[in-house]
Amino acid sequence: MRKSGKIGMGVIGCGSISWLCHFPSIKAIPELELVAVCDSNEEYARKAAEKWGAKKWYTDYRKMVENKDLNAVVIASANSVHCEQTIAAARAGLHVYVEKPMAVTNKEAWEMVRVCRENNVKLTVGTNQRFWLQHEWAKKLIDDGVIGEVKFGRSSLHETWHLYQDNVAYSDWRLKPKQAGSATLFDQGSHRVDLLRWLVGSEAKRVVGVAKRVATPEDVCSLDDLSWVAIEFENGAYGFVTTDKFSPVVSNITEIYATEGMLFASSEATNPFQSVPLAVYTAKDYTWENYPEILKKYRYPEEFWVTDLITRPLEKKWISITPPREWSFTRMMKHFLTCFVEDKEPLVTGEDGAKVMEILCAVFKSMETNSWVDLPLKEEVVPPHYRPYYEKKKEAK
Ligand SMILES: NC(=O)c1ccc[n+]([C@@H]2O[C@H](COP(=O)([O-])OP(=O)(O)OC[C@H]3O[C@@H](n4cnc5c(N)ncnc54)[C@H](O)[C@@H]3O)[C@@H](O)[C@H]2O)c1
Repeated sequence: MRKSGKIGMGVIGCGSISWLCHFPSIKAIPELELVAVCDSNEEYARKAAEKWGAKKWYTDYRKMVENKDLNAVVIASANSVHCEQTIAAARAGLHVYVEKPMAVTNKEAWEMVRVCRENNVKLTVGTNQRFWLQHEWAKKLIDDGVIGEVKFGRSSLHETWHLYQDNVAYSDWRLKPKQAGSATLFDQGSHRVDLLRWLVGSEAKRVVGVAKRVATPEDVCSLDDLSWVAIEFENGAYGFVTTDKFSPVVSNITEIYATEGMLFASSEATNPFQSVPLAVYTAKDYTWENYPEILKKYRYPEEFWVTDLITRPLEKKWISITPPREWSFTRMMKHFLTCFVEDKEPLVTGEDGAKVMEILCAVFKSMETNSWVDLPLKEEVVPPHYRPYYEKKKEAK
């Protein structure tokens, strides 16, 4: 806590996600003060400090983390530097909110977890889609048993390179193996694997998958533009994640299939077949009196006077739910703040992020072995296009 009574925040990486989401979220939370920003591009650092009111700007994160007015940092730089920046921040005693994917290899991710635990700082990973209300409510309905036992889940996020790269991105790290490590598998797969693991509520036991380039010209990007991941969970359920970088519009769908119901969730950027953020079917014999609160209050259409009063039990049908709009990034930032002020575990822990990295890295291993891969991984798995750079980085240390 600073003398002003506010909590000092820093941001490393002053690019698109920081301008669109992190800076506005920090500004929207009265307890937080943006103390310092850092970007390897001097102009970006200076411009962000001017616009968002940070007193200090830096081009070297090692210098920034020494700033005594800081309590915590958001790391929103290229994937390949997330690990070293998290470790430097943690060693300086700062709590860390690192963007997804948290690292480029499974070993890096566990190292980040270890150093944060050792230095007694909180670590959360930016899979903010858990903070979309439709996903939060889906989780609650599942945990309350409304759809029975989850046996299968499918989560997909398909979109084009151009969505980010040609419109909002400040740099082209996404297209560069040295900075991204992997493309669609890491970029979108990190969100969907995290979501599915959370909703299914079990740890991954083994994984098989593919991440490869099928549509993008090699001179544009040599990285994977299509991925699919099959997961067998410890509780016997299965999950399937798909992503790509060539579909011209966004499709974002999560489907959960359980013994007594089903649940579909989507984003606002969606296709006509997913026209509401959350749809739930339960085969349970609910009456109006014991109907789950979320279904009672937020379903549409209400139909209260027609069927609900006369039908016992309530009619079984798909229920459409449109939650109120609340910006997931600000909700996640507020939650992060509460975690380090009240010494609570974040909803997305460093361990969650590392387990997601295990699943993503296992896909590359599975392509090598042409088979299912058991988790936890026994060795460090480095994405194939990243290997030459990783070797050099290790030599340089
Ligand atoms: N949670 C989400 O939904 C979401 C959405 C978009 C991006 N992201 C993640 O945020 C991160 C940044 O993505 P972006 O879209 O903002 O990219 P961007 O290219 O718009 O911005 C990245 C910024 O980081 C800076 N940078 C790179 N290396 C640096 C270093 N070593 N030190 C300091 N600054 C450095 C670049 O100069 C650039 O300004 C990525 O990890 C990405 O996966 C998350």
